[in-house]
Amino acid sequence: MCGIIGYTGHLDALTVLLRGLEQLEYRGYDSAGIAMLSGEGEDRLLIKKAGPVATLKDACEELEVRSHCGIGHTRWATHGGVNDTNAHPHIAGKVTLIHNGIIENYHNLIEKFGFRGSLVSETDTEVAARLLDYYYHGDPYEAIRKTIREITGSYAFCIMFEDIHDKIFCVRNVSPMVAAHMEDGSFVASDVTALIPYTKRYFVIPEYQIVTLAGDSVSVQDLKGDPVTPEMLEVNWNVEAAQKNGFPHFMLKEIHEQPEALRNTIMPRLENGLPDFSEDGIPDAVFSGCDKIAIVACGTAMYAGMVGKALIEPILKIPVSVNIASEFRYESPLVDEKTLVLVISQSGETIDTLAALRLSKECGAKVLSVVNVKGSTIARESDHVFYTHAGPEIAVASTKAYMVQLASLYLIGCRMSMARGKFTEAQARDFISRLTSSISAVQKILDNKKRIKEAAAVVAKAQDAFFVGRGLDYAFSLEGALKLKEISYIHAEAYAAGELKHGTIALIEEKTPVIALATQDHIYGKTISNIREVRARGAFVILITKTGAEIPEDICDIHFAVPVPHDRFTVFPVAVILQLLAYYTSDLKGLNVDKPRNLAKSVTVE
Ligand code: F6R
Repeated sequence: MCGIIGYTGHLDALTVLLRGLEQLEYRGYDSAGIAMLSGEGEDRLLIKKAGPVATLKDACEELEVRSHCGIGHTRWATHGGVNDTNAHPHIAGKVTLIHNGIIENYHNLIEKFGFRGSLVSETDTEVAARLLDYYYHGDPYEAIRKTIREITGSYAFCIMFEDIHDKIFCVRNVSPMVAAHMEDGSFVASDVTALIPYTKRYFVIPEYQIVTLAGDSVSVQDLKGDPVTPEMLEVNWNVEAAQKNGFPHFMLKEIHEQPEALRNTIMPRLENGLPDFSEDGIPDAVFSGCDKIAIVACGTAMYAGMVGKALIEPILKIPVSVNIASEFRYESPLVDEKTLVLVISQSGETIDTLAALRLSKECGAKVLSVVNVKGSTIARESDHVFYTHAGPEIAVASTKAYMVQLASLYLIGCRMSMARGKFTEAQARDFISRLTSSISAVQKILDNKKRIKEAAAVVAKAQDAFFVGRGLDYAFSLEGALKLKEISYIHAEAYAAGELKHGTIALIEEKTPVIALATQDHIYGKTISNIREVRARGAFVILITKTGAEIPEDICDIHFAVPVPHDRFTVFPVAVILQLLAYYTSDLKGLNVDKPRNLAKSVTVE
């Protein structure tokens, strides 16, 4: 949600900034802009354009000025429409500023400081720039301290002052920001993907501390001015992982990376065929000491949680709730010292999920988070972290992160069942062996994906699509519908198959695609009956079953079989079919698969 990059050093700042913005564009692509300090006595240079980074790049083509210090921003609009004026950076007097987050009290600040009538843009960010300039009398630290004392909300700010020619100042609250220094200079960015071409060592900027980037150093101080030594982290993936590597889109590449992501997440946690979390530092007491589980997440991560619930609850026989983070935080949730709160987040920065985590801790619950990004805020604030090892996920639509979130929930469910005496060692070993065999089932779907494209050709012509299933299949179908609607803009809904006839079946017309999931033996017959109901009304049925299932005559138009013998594990290959169906549908419609309209990766606003 907005990408920010800053650089000072001996390299050409324009090149570094544009490259960084390209890497960060998945965080927002409404507009992009850069500002550079072009040296003693000269003006600041500001270029900002509505549209993608490519438009900004074109505008910079003829630029002759060379600079070694600058900041860049790619925007996901919140306050103010998408246009050049509202694009960042914003300039006020001596201050140039970029921002990721939301300043909640910007209206009050406008009144309190008399800014009304003199603002150029409609953004909350410009108010922060004005405030900084108001307080700036030559001491950047004093101005920053005074400004953040006035501001409520979330922010990651990168600030340049007109009369300080080679330095960038940064401060944040909630919104993510990382920094690094190496021989080439000093860098700051919203996330490490922009730093990877230069270094693997970085640190997460601590909240409410001021970071100063100079060409030869990066220093951190607290609000009293005392120096702070940040904790250095190291990325465990390389620059290729954040590139397309021959695939037309990041999404397709990431779908294909799933077998490896599953292996990386599962295998290091197996000891003698059983789940072992000693390397993660997660003791069994976390699993045995609770009497209920509350899963909290947003979007795809929440749908992974729905699968987790459908899997775990019947085995553990304790209540497992799945909660939309943005609702949970405002609803006095039933969470106490005996609740294990399972927080799921790819980015580890989703603000609603983070707020739900904080609330859970206030209620005395233990928080175990399943997170992909090392050192992210959710990871740092949880009691225990279970890292997924998907590597960087660049496509806005989540695929491989979902897959490893599922694998993590399966591992956690298995360990928890052992810790609570619900699984014998032999049962746990059998569960794990089925889990690891699912990886080859995922690979088989990838190897035979051509037919999925044929199915997508039909879906691409539709205005609506329905995903139906019962039990675990229903949980899988929720994610299938989300994937399709977010990248193909086709209205898609997931329904528990038996529920459709209570209203929604009215929407089924001749050729309406219904993606029917029937991979659960104990309810197979029931699901087939529900499919007959839509079939009778002309639906175009794409049926997914296990290999070997008995398919009644004329029940579907297209059939896919997943090579997984046990019902509990069908989600892994099913997810790939649904992801590819969405991918090909979007691609056939000629849409921007990796950057669907109105969306952004890492949702750091409420
Ligand atoms: C959809 C998607 C989103 C995210 C959601 C939570 O494809 O990616 O629904 O799953 O915004 O994000 P994280 O997992 O980063 O908390």
